[in-house]
Amino acid sequence: MKRNLDIKSEDNFMKRFKYYKSNKPEPSLDKVVRIQYNVPIEVNNISNIIEDDSRTKLLGLRNFTDWKTYTFNKHSGLFLIANPFTSLGQRLWIRKCLEDYPRKPNKTNIDIEKHIEDWWREIHKNDELDRKLQKKLRWTTLGYHHNWDTKVYCEKNRNVFPLELAELCDVVSQYLGYIHFKAQAAIVNYYHMGSTLSAHTDHSEVNLEAPLLSFSFGQSAIFLIGGQEKSYEPSAILLNSGDILVMSKEARLCYHAVPKILQASNQPWNNYEELIQIADNDVKTKYINDETFINEINRNADNKEWSQFSSYVEKSRINVNVRQVLMENQDRLDN
Ligand code: SIN
Repeated sequence: MKRNLDIKSEDNFMKRFKYYKSNKPEPSLDKVVRIQYNVPIEVNNISNIIEDDSRTKLLGLRNFTDWKTYTFNKHSGLFLIANPFTSLGQRLWIRKCLEDYPRKPNKTNIDIEKHIEDWWREIHKNDELDRKLQKKLRWTTLGYHHNWDTKVYCEKNRNVFPLELAELCDVVSQYLGYIHFKAQAAIVNYYHMGSTLSAHTDHSEVNLEAPLLSFSFGQSAIFLIGGQEKSYEPSAILLNSGDILVMSKEARLCYHAVPKILQASNQPWNNYEELIQIADNDVKTKYINDETFINEINRNADNKEWSQFSSYVEKSRINVNVRQVLMENQDRLDN
């Protein structure tokens, strides 16, 4: 009898997953926490006025004073920063995820089938876009590469973590008070309109005290987060383009999943008032070369230059999931 009850309660996460995944009938969004409409009772706005970080503008972020940050009553350690990016910033990061991050030496799911040096260039090689190959890309890994079979990181399976992404994570983690956070591994997930991501926890990192930073771009998603057991009834949260979800402390090891991708209600990467180029720079960044980076961000203000990336995100969602792997005093896994 007890066993039956256990099995039943273990289904809570799966039940919700199936409910939100369904196409016929479409799920009701009534119980989904949707920050953009009003502040739902499940969340608290904790936006704190702290001095801006001089790097925000260069990285495509608004000033800290304009950030809206929420915590969740049922999920201690979970933070949602509601789209702190400018339109120019969203374009920059979407482009990085499509043009730069799937390039070698980074790893992608396509590697088991064939070696592609530069996926973005390959799909645009001929006059006609290679839609089949475009759709094939489901993930790319950066820094310490996630091993999907063993779930164990190792030094041999490591490349340089992208400096600009490390800089972005540094700004976000400083803002939340995680002053020692170091971005060392990332999974970039690419979702099409019917894609899902099943329930899992992220526990491969040596350092489980450091938060996990998750950036969403493009189409929206229903994100489920429960507890450390699947019996815990999960909450459903709508994630929109530009949102940053941070899983720390108790939330760091909780089950989470993406049962549905939804059409975005607007396109925050196309807000023309926010496509203003960055003029000059007196910023001291930690990792990147500011001058090169100004050009990288500014070129995205040109709609023609950006049109291929726009076509992609009009039908897809991108999620960048960043972790610290090592303990504070470690610089390699073997010391
Ligand atoms: C993940 O948990 O790996 C991705 C979550 C998301 O796509 O929002």
